[in-house]
Amino acid sequence: MEANLPKRKETRKSLRIKVISMGNAEVGKSCIIKRYCEKRFVPKYLATIGIDYGVTKVQIRDREIKVNIFDMAGHPFFYEVRNEFYKDTQGVVLVYDVGQKESFDALAGWLAEMKQELGPHGNMENIVFVVCANKIDCTKHRCVDESEGRLWAESRGFLYFETSAQTGEGINEMFQTFYSAIVDLCDNGGKRPTSSMSVGFTKEQADTIRRIRNSKDSWDMLGVKPGATRDEVNKAYRKLAVLLHPDKCMAPGSEDAFKAVVNARTALLKTIK
Ligand code: GTP
Ligand code: MG
Repeated sequence: MEANLPKRKETRKSLRIKVISMGNAEVGKSCIIKRYCEKRFVPKYLATIGIDYGVTKVQIRDREIKVNIFDMAGHPFFYEVRNEFYKDTQGVVLVYDVGQKESFDALAGWLAEMKQELGPHGNMENIVFVVCANKIDCTKHRCVDESEGRLWAESRGFLYFETSAQTGEGINEMFQTFYSAIVDLCDNGGKRPTSSMSVGFTKEQADTIRRIRNSKDSWDMLGVKPGATRDEVNKAYRKLAVLLHPDKCMAPGSEDAFKAVVNARTALLKTIK
């Protein structure tokens, strides 16, 4: 009897993927991986020497995924060792420590290192990046807030998660979403699906929010010269208000930026006759 039954639909082929970790030394890359794979946390700092390699299996929807993880050392000293491991990567876990601004500012440098190692024919567009804002348990020392990190990540089409390798917060969710995105990428012929690229805000909006965050005074925030007239201030204000109004702008931090612009205009108009 059984021989006459229609064959069951074959389960989809299992996948083998390569992911790497990137980010400054001591931000918690190895601990994030350990928390996910071994469900434990090591408080003592053991610097990765060059590179650590591990294999793990994960189930994503109906697929079994074999993941080769290359955990890179963040220290500049190990550049010569890690530079060989960038190629043929489908996913990158890019980590910074929310209590260490330099590690956040260094993220662009990590992308540049990878781009350089992949060479002119390497394509970063078809790699899934997840940015981990790590050590969120250290609330007292936090100096990079969520909207700043999220804006940096999402304006590049990257995933963003707040994580703590110590408490485990965000870790499983981050890896599940990350691996799912890689499976989608593989199913899409190795191209990042367009849906994951639509971020709901423009580059101009993201750049403006960053500029406002870094402005040194109210003149600078509105983008007018000190001593500008009421008309000039109002004109600059209206332009920014249209660009950043929270009803129209979905970018992380737009609400705070909008409020800051309103306050800057109020303060300036008080001083201008
Ligand atoms: P390199 O291998 O040198 O590049 O560093 P790494 O990024 O792999 O850092 P590692 O995972 O070794 O962690 C560095 C230190 O931060 C260790 O002392 C960890 O215990 C600590 N650490 C990592 N993640 C967290 C976290 O989420 N919260 C807290 N409080 N400490 C963490
Ligand atoms: Mg490490």
